[in-house]
Amino acid sequence: MVEKECPAVVSCADILALATRDSVVYLGGPSWEVGLRRRDSTTASRLDANNSIPAPSFSLSTLKQNFANQGVSEKDLVALSGAHTIDLAQCRLFGPHTYNDTNIDASYAKFLQSKCPRTGNDKLLELLDRQTPFPFDNLYYKNLAQKKVLLHSDQKLYTGDSTDHLVGNMLRIELQFFNDFFEDMVKMRRIKPLTGGKKGRSDSIVLKSTKHQLLKIM
Ligand code: HEM
Repeated sequence: MVEKECPAVVSCADILALATRDSVVYLGGPSWEVGLRRRDSTTASRLDANNSIPAPSFSLSTLKQNFANQGVSEKDLVALSGAHTIDLAQCRLFGPHTYNDTNIDASYAKFLQSKCPRTGNDKLLELLDRQTPFPFDNLYYKNLAQKKVLLHSDQKLYTGDSTDHLVGNMLRIELQFFNDFFEDMVKMRRIKPLTGGKKGRSDSIVLKSTKHQLLKIM
């Protein structure tokens, strides 16, 4: 629809990047300048996505390796994971953590199990941050320290290993989390972006038009 209204100006990737930044700001988090002129891929690959995107079953070393493959450090991994201060996850993805792991608060595990049986109810949604589900804040890190996070991979960031002190920093100083988070969101723009080229987006009108188009589609 956007392409029809405004050809070669706004890509879906740009819209997603802008919507992400604006959602974080709306929920009280930090702001950053979004690098525009991303190009959309013309194909989609489930295999590529599954190979690149980290899974909730990952161990800490696999998480670190997965992020390192994209040039993202351990510190960035911890800061970016703070995005789990908002939104939801499905039972089929958090269930194993509640049944198979010991590094989860017992009453929290019991509560989750009452909603998410071992089999069935796969699509049931639960808050990633039960304490403060809507504001974008640093209490996700408090959940980690209290062993009250939803995902196995999240809890792996705080299990007596090399990332514990980074979690501690984010937990102590919210501003530290905000600064690191927005710096990393800007950094992520540099991970193999498709820009320019034949189907590149027009630079001169992109800012004005993006604002205009976003208002139209909202
Ligand atoms: C560290 C590795 C990560 C793993 C293993 C992971 C895993 C997951 C999983 C399993 C869900 C629930 C999806 C569902 O139930 O359909 C989720 C949700 C979410 N994640 Fe992550 N994530 C990671 C890092 C990140 C990062 C870096 C960000 C953003 C900077 C992020 C932002 C979100 C958001 C906003 C949601 C809720 C909305 C949604 O389900 O798409 N995550 N994540």
